Amino acid sequence: MDFGTRLFRTALLGLAGNRAARALSQKYGLKLGASRFVAGETMDDAIAQAKRLNAAGITVTLDYLGESIGSMEEAAESEQAYHALLASIHREGIQGNVSLKPTQFGLAIDRDGCRSGIRSVVKEAARLGLFVRLDMEDSPWTEATINLVRELHAEGCCNVGTVIQAYLYRSELDIHQLTAEGINLRLVKGAYKEPRKLAFDSKRVVDANFRRLIAARLDSRVYTAIATHDEAIIRYTKSYARTRGIPRTAFEFQMLYGIRTPLQLALAKEGYTVRSYVPFGRSWYPYFVRRLAERPANLTFIMRSIFTR
Ligand code: FDA
Repeated sequence: MDFGTRLFRTALLGLAGNRAARALSQKYGLKLGASRFVAGETMDDAIAQAKRLNAAGITVTLDYLGESIGSMEEAAESEQAYHALLASIHREGIQGNVSLKPTQFGLAIDRDGCRSGIRSVVKEAARLGLFVRLDMEDSPWTEATINLVRELHAEGCCNVGTVIQAYLYRSELDIHQLTAEGINLRLVKGAYKEPRKLAFDSKRVVDANFRRLIAARLDSRVYTAIATHDEAIIRYTKSYARTRGIPRTAFEFQMLYGIRTPLQLALAKEGYTVRSYVPFGRSWYPYFVRRLAERPANLTFIMRSIFTR
């Protein structure tokens, strides 16, 4: 990554945690251009988009946005929102599941309370035949998130999985352990600002590690989601699976709502399972900023859409 891009990314990711900027974003709703990446502010908006994607052969994971909450009352609201979301997915016959962030359930405030809220969502999802993915946030939460998923699995909840980030040095070991326990994983490059003592800094090295992790998981045949918009990585996955005789039922591709939609449709047409990550809710600001940081060109797109309205 060149110096300018690194500076841009660091500045934007710093803004993701800024409370004043977050409050301002809520005031202006999705008008700042975030609607390109966010399905809407309500559950009905998300369900409508999920139906549209399902009709095009794309399955979904719905994410009620909210992270780093300030109280366990807010955690209880997240829990209720996820119960309502599961009921709606089931009632509307959506081909999809849910993703949630552990800090949205109070991981930073009360670990036992967080565990019990997430457990209740996972159990309800199991009752409805649905799957729950715990997204991976920044490194202070890696260990606790992995442990939470391992505990739930050990309790017999097999409908829960998490995410492993290729930029972290620790990920190879984590994959080894989680694969041995048969845990469903999503593999990503990683979206947060991490210190050099924990994470690879160079895109080339992250990409190489991502390929290594993909190969290890495909060889294991434990169900894996390859979540990327990087066509080189997608080509690598397809070719690795083909040459090793790994069935398409052992993995799926995932991409974010609003990003590379034609590629999502093309993969689905080829017969791969493709899942679109569909975020919704009023707390869209940090999610939106991470999407801008991933690709400087997005900022130009957003500025253009603001000034040409
Ligand atoms: P890379 O950044 O190299 O991008 C490859 C190409 O894809 C770019 O050249 C561009 O064309 C396109 N692209 C990528 N990002 C774009 C954007 N924002 N806007 C427009 N085009 C873009 N991270 C995390 O830390 N924890 C998590 O739980 C998750 N969960 C998750 C779920 C799903 C379904 C996806 C797809 C991604 C995540 N991520 C994540 C984010 C992930 O870590 C990573 O930041 C992004 O996917 C961008 O990396 P790529 O693999 O797409 O490659």
